[in-house]
Amino acid sequence: MSDTIYIKSKSEIEIMRQAAKIAAGARSMGRQAVRDGLTTKQIDKAVHEFIVKSGAKPSCLGYAGFPAATCVSVNEQVIHGIPGKRVVHNGDIVSIDLCATYKGFVGDCAGTYPVGEVSEEAKKLIAVTRQAFFEGIKFAKVGYRIADIGAAVQEYVESNGFSVVRDYVGHGIGRSMHEAPEVPNYRPERARPNPRLVEGMTICVEPMVCAGDWHVNVLADGWTVVSADHSLAAHYENTILITDGEPEILTMADDI
Ligand code: MF3
Ligand code: CO
Repeated sequence: MSDTIYIKSKSEIEIMRQAAKIAAGARSMGRQAVRDGLTTKQIDKAVHEFIVKSGAKPSCLGYAGFPAATCVSVNEQVIHGIPGKRVVHNGDIVSIDLCATYKGFVGDCAGTYPVGEVSEEAKKLIAVTRQAFFEGIKFAKVGYRIADIGAAVQEYVESNGFSVVRDYVGHGIGRSMHEAPEVPNYRPERARPNPRLVEGMTICVEPMVCAGDWHVNVLADGWTVVSADHSLAAHYENTILITDGEPEILTMADDI
């Protein structure tokens, strides 16, 4: 990935808003499809159809060979679950993550949703993961640096007894799904690029949280990332725009 951070112009931001709105709508469709008895492939289909119907392209499909529009990750699966025959049941938690490309720009968002009634731990994990995003973006403003976002995410998650994944991070976004800078969900221990936030930057802030330890493994399918201790995991992501004031959450919708 190039180190260049692309600052978006007014007209590019307008297209980013449209791409992000489609991604947010697709996430809402996916959330509604997270129901007892449905397969992860059926959840993917609802997302995929919405994206195509909106005149956009499912950016994950074919990305580095990923075979679907949506990453669907169940329980101890953190991210990058491949949709398939697996049926989700009451008590499961299901993370969906998708991107939509519209007029050359990408919107990216994710969320974790319960199937029916889930455990108290699962409810808390989902709520803490979502809130961690909002704690992080309190620092997504001119005057702060990228690492301030991750430090706030980590502090909030750990103070609630959970852990943040280190092996995967958020990212800049624009004409490509992944642009510079990396956006870790923790305060990096070693020096790494830690750019200042600038008006016109578009980034994805995406806490990935484990109920237990933060170490993860990748399954034999080459994609599915699971918590090493098989504890429950959750994910929450929005595409945001750095402005001259509060960040604008481009993939926001009222039901997620
Ligand atoms: N939406 C994911 C992200 O935040 C990307 C999915 S990986 C893919 O980076 F290969 F499926 F596209
Ligand atoms: Co992302």
